[in-house]
Formats: sequence, C-alpha cells, structure tokens
Amino acid sequence: MKKIILFADTGIDDAIALIYALTHPEIDLTAVVAGYGNTDRDRSARNAAYLLKLAGRTDIPVIAGSTLPLSGETPVFFPEIHGEEGLGPISPPMSQEPFQRRTNFTKLFQLIKQHPDELTIVTVGRCTSLAIAWYLSPEVMKLVKETYIMGGAFLEPGNVTEVAEANFYGDPQAADFVCQNAPGLTIIPLNVTRDALLTPALVDFIDTRADTPLQQVIKPILDFYYEAYQQLEPGIEGTPQHDLAAVIAALEIPGMFSYVSKQVKVEDEDGYAEGLSIADFRPGVEECTGTGCARVAASMDIGAFTANVLDILTRD
Ligand code: RIB
Ligand code: CA
Repeated sequence: MKKIILFADTGIDDAIALIYALTHPEIDLTAVVAGYGNTDRDRSARNAAYLLKLAGRTDIPVIAGSTLPLSGETPVFFPEIHGEEGLGPISPPMSQEPFQRRTNFTKLFQLIKQHPDELTIVTVGRCTSLAIAWYLSPEVMKLVKETYIMGGAFLEPGNVTEVAEANFYGDPQAADFVCQNAPGLTIIPLNVTRDALLTPALVDFIDTRADTPLQQVIKPILDFYYEAYQQLEPGIEGTPQHDLAAVIAALEIPGMFSYVSKQVKVEDEDGYAEGLSIADFRPGVEECTGTGCARVAASMDIGAFTANVLDILTRD
C-alpha cells in the first residue's frame, strides 16, 4: 500500500488524479492539501471535500493550503479551462466556509510524524504549500519518504507562457525552493504530461462503466475540459492528464516512465523567462545525486498509461 498525501489546486485534471487515487486499491490516500491555482484556495478545498464525500471518504482530511504565491501577488485563476467553480459544469452543493481563513498545517505535520518515512507527497499544483511546510518545519518534512511534483517544461514550450509551465510559473520562488531542497524528488514535467491524453472515446468508455457517484463525475468534467482545450489547442485529440500522470508515476510501475537525474532551477525573477525550468541537458553532462538533484521524467509509455487509467477508473 502506498500512502499518499496529495497537494492539489483542485481543478479538473487534479480531480481526475484525486478520483484515481481514491479508486486505486494500492493507494492509501492519507490527506489532501488544497491550495490556490486553477481556482482559489477555498474552492479548491471545497472541491476536494466534495469528491471525498462522493467517494464516501469523509474520513480523509482536507487541509487548507496556501491562498497566494510566496511573492504575495494576487494569483490568476483559470475559469475558462476549469470552470467557474473549478470542476467544469459542476457546482458542488457544499459550502466553502469550513476552509475560509484556515491555513493550518498542524494536521499535516501530525500525519507525517505518525508515519515517518512512509508517506509520499504528490504535488500537482503550485508548490507554495509544500514550500511553506518546509519553511515551517524542515525537521518534520525530512520524515517524508519521497516527493513527486507535476511541473516544469524541459526543452519544450510552456503552456502558460512561451517558456513556462503553469505550476512553476504560478509560484516560481516556491518551485525553485522545492527543486533545490526537497530530498527524494521526482519531477513529472509538461513535456511528458502533455502526451498523457484521454480522448473523448476513452472518456465515453469509462462513462459506460460509471456506476458510482464518484465515477459519474468523470465524463461531465472531462467533456468540459475537452471543449476548453479545443479553444486552446484546436485539434488536440484529448485532454492532457498532467496531474494523473504524476500520481501514476508515484506508483513506480516498472517501465512506465524513464528518468534522467538533473539539478533543476526555476527562474524566479520578473521577466520573459519567469517560471522557466532549467537543467543541463548538454551531452556529456554527468547525472547528479543527493538533495538538490531530482529525477526528471523524460518519457512515458502512453499505451501502458492508458491501459492503467482505464483499468482503475472502470473498477466496480
Ligand atoms: O501545467 C499543468 C498544471 O497546471 C496542472 O497541474 C493543472 O492542474 C494546473 O495546475
Ligand atoms: Ca493541478
């Protein structure tokens, strides 16, 4: 059993990653830390709580994460991609009030201390909450077994600017801190996740097996996401499951991902390159080791990814 704490900015692809984690028989989802990103923090936390409720898993805590990047600047949200509430056409019938003005990592630190060297953190949103947790208590965070983050774009165009991927661009200071300081770090970047497509035909197939309230959310939100992506990238064959790819990577399924080890920096100065993820890919450059050195995914077996997603998301 893999114990995972998911740090999410609960928009649509985060929701699919969360549904997958809740459904997978080998994942013990220990908590969700919900921060701003695709939507504001309170909606993000409410959306996570709603999905947990649909799954009958209100025992899993939703921890209210960060509301702003470390710069203190007002974040930009993406209703045109993730919907007004962050879940496409769905307006969750739940209040955001329990999460308002409640950033508090007490529960997070308690869980990590209860399970030393057992917990995997998977961060699929801005890195702010994770960086704050490290600033607040490096002693406790060192008890985390390993960390996976979805972010960055290496030797590839970005998705929010010409050069930057949305999670790193949304808080480049936090992303740079995490890349250089989190031990046991694996990065699943956009150059891999942009190929992790779920086509409408696959979504329709999943929907034919959708017997539970949780599974029945998948098609409406992915249909919405598909329409949004048709505006962004006309002709794209499906919707990129960035965050799901990161959760699946954490399962370490043999052969599904290939990696290179790199020291990664994130450009955190204002300007054209803000949010750019940087590593040395020149021929002959040796791989690194230790803290400050991340495994960076270089490729993913799309066939194996698709088969795995269909298997898990259609389980009874
Ligand atoms: O760049 C893709 C990432 O940005 C995903 O995590 C998506 O949910 C958004 O947060
Ligand atoms: Ca996300």
